[in-house]
Amino acid sequence: MKKISFIIIASVMVTLQLYAQDAKMNAFVSELMGKMTIDEKIGQLNLVTPGGAVTGSVVSSDVDNKIRNGQVGGLFGITGPDKVHKAQEIAVNNSRLKIPLLFGLDVIHGHRTIFPIPLGLSCSWDTALIERSARIAATEASADGLDWGFSPMVDIARDPRWGRIAEGAGEDPFLGSQIARAMVKGYQGANNDLTKTDVIMACVKHFALYGAEDAGRDYNTTDMSRIKMYQYYLPPYKAAVDAGVGTVMSSFNEIDGIPATGNKWLMTDLLRKQWGFKGLVVTDYTAVNEMSAHGEGDLQTVSALALNAGIDMDMVGEGFLTTLKKSLQEGKVTEQGINDACRRVLEAKYKLGLFDNPYRRMDMVRANKEILSAEHRKAARETAAHSFVLLKNDNQLLPLKKSGTIAVIGPLADSKRNMLGTWSVSGDPAKSISVLEGIKNGAGAANIVYAKGANLSDDREFAKHVNVFGTEIDFDNRSADEMLTEATTIASKADVVVAVLGEAADMTGESSSMSNIGLQESQLNLLKALIKTGKPVVIVLFNGRPMTLTWENDHAPAILDVWFGGTEAGNAIADVLFGNYDPSGKLTTSFPRNVGQIPIYYNHKNTGRPLDGNEFQKFRSDYLDVSNDPLYPFGYGLSYTRFSYSDISLSKKEISPNDKLQVRLTVTNTGNFDGEETVQLYIRDMVATITQPVKELKAFQKVWLKKGESKEVSFTLSIDDLKFYNSDLNLIYEPGDFKVFVGGNSRDVKEAGFTLTK
Ligand code: NOJ
Repeated sequence: MKKISFIIIASVMVTLQLYAQDAKMNAFVSELMGKMTIDEKIGQLNLVTPGGAVTGSVVSSDVDNKIRNGQVGGLFGITGPDKVHKAQEIAVNNSRLKIPLLFGLDVIHGHRTIFPIPLGLSCSWDTALIERSARIAATEASADGLDWGFSPMVDIARDPRWGRIAEGAGEDPFLGSQIARAMVKGYQGANNDLTKTDVIMACVKHFALYGAEDAGRDYNTTDMSRIKMYQYYLPPYKAAVDAGVGTVMSSFNEIDGIPATGNKWLMTDLLRKQWGFKGLVVTDYTAVNEMSAHGEGDLQTVSALALNAGIDMDMVGEGFLTTLKKSLQEGKVTEQGINDACRRVLEAKYKLGLFDNPYRRMDMVRANKEILSAEHRKAARETAAHSFVLLKNDNQLLPLKKSGTIAVIGPLADSKRNMLGTWSVSGDPAKSISVLEGIKNGAGAANIVYAKGANLSDDREFAKHVNVFGTEIDFDNRSADEMLTEATTIASKADVVVAVLGEAADMTGESSSMSNIGLQESQLNLLKALIKTGKPVVIVLFNGRPMTLTWENDHAPAILDVWFGGTEAGNAIADVLFGNYDPSGKLTTSFPRNVGQIPIYYNHKNTGRPLDGNEFQKFRSDYLDVSNDPLYPFGYGLSYTRFSYSDISLSKKEISPNDKLQVRLTVTNTGNFDGEETVQLYIRDMVATITQPVKELKAFQKVWLKKGESKEVSFTLSIDDLKFYNSDLNLIYEPGDFKVFVGGNSRDVKEAGFTLTK
């Protein structure tokens, strides 16, 4: 009782404190806005970039003068305490009202110390580890002059052709929501106190549904029912908002025929009114201007549309800067609308403590000490090892022995340039560890020999498309045959071959959609030649998307998917290859057998003509030429050890809406290594007024088991786990039968049933 009253008093005090803080902020901002002209207010809505990470055709011009004239609210694309300091000086010393600038950047998977790409990170299913990676990124970025990072990207994606699948947490809304929360917490600090000098304000993106573009083509149209949005696509954005994310970025795509950036239902009705978001909304790069190409009118019209929809800040396109005053005079926008947007920009600066000290996140001493520190690199290495997914390991080929001769072969074996992956704008590839280096560091007495074996691709036109940010696909002076001969010669003399194959870093990421998601022909030829030598071949696969690996799976005895592991990728890969760390990553996207199966995802509907088993049946929902199931399902990933699952025991066979259901089972490590398993729980609502998916992830737990050890794993389900959206978009439950599944992936599960009563 005493404890409860203490909690109540404490939470009342926190609420009162927050009110007082808000009142102080409101008074400060109101006073400042009282001094501002309409031009200065519009100036605050302008986010510019002098270059750096450019993701469109426009770069802001005359930036210094605009800052002086009060025409800039924030800047992104520069980093480093000295550079940021100089830009801030112009605003603070030379603009009329001395309002500090906000400095943003794409801090996506690490800042200078690069962690695995987000898709890889998600495969760790380890929210503490993910939070720590964001914490470290924020520590480095804030020392480097930055207040604001454009992450987390939480777009659910079911189409691996889409290059940006690399930037998110995969196909599942439950896991995606957990990861969204962890990242916001990591960036903004545990209690969202943005005045701290080692935090940055997070930006959840791309609001909304950007991952559902038709045909996996970037910037393409999306269209879906509201129920699908609410149930599968919106939860991770909502989770970030609930976690207190400071800002939201609009997406490029349209929703219900209206571009997200001009979509009032999305930005105001849903985000602000239903979800209660109070922070800043920024557009994506030139997204206001792009509404003209979408067919929504000229720049003045679309700028007014965006402001009226609820957008506060205009990234790069300057539609707000150049047209809002005219629209105000013509009655197309209101002064209130401009004031609201300006207030939210100023509030963000206030929350970040910039009015107290505009230079608070430029810390040369901290930058020198912390950036790429041994501690950060150690965390990156550990995180990378947790992100790798062992897709195949016949006859326990892995882990490798630290003896004999190991041939390390492939275009990605000695390529620092490709270790960091997409969106590592502040990462220095030269500081990364290549696979060859990592293997040499970790090989003990083994003799390591190397050959490139093939170009990453022999298609020069394709390479030009990929090499926009630098040479990731290079061309050897030797012919393909000469390279192959060298590779097979050394492979024949080795005990085992490690074939380091896959994608170049920028074959995924923005504007990197692909229609063929298999290995490039040059690499497939190399792989075939290596397998033909008769030596055991381990594929170490670099990729930012699920790839089609049917041939590889049929012919190579072992495949380790390493995504793009970041600065310490090479060392982490060696840690796993040599068994210092038992791989524990689990896929967060389904791997299709071929492109024709896309979109393919585990939480699909049953249909009226479901296929019974895997064999083709006429007049059933299937294909003539390929099975329905993916090559590797969601949640899948092997370990060097093996885990067995007991049957499920349920605390009750019937539960009422107020009950909790205990789901218990025992997991045993039956193999020869200590290891970690991610135990996954799925449910299926068997009968409902809105058709439900065949499985939905509702919980997971990571358990560490010594070899031979057993542990009981227990989950508690409540009514919230059994709810779904109905046609009125209310979250409801319906009594009836449910199934519960538990297993180490979404396919191989134990099953039990229970009934929800009225
Ligand atoms: C465009 C991308 O879509 C977005 O993710 C990124 O944050 C901005 N450019 C800024 O670089």
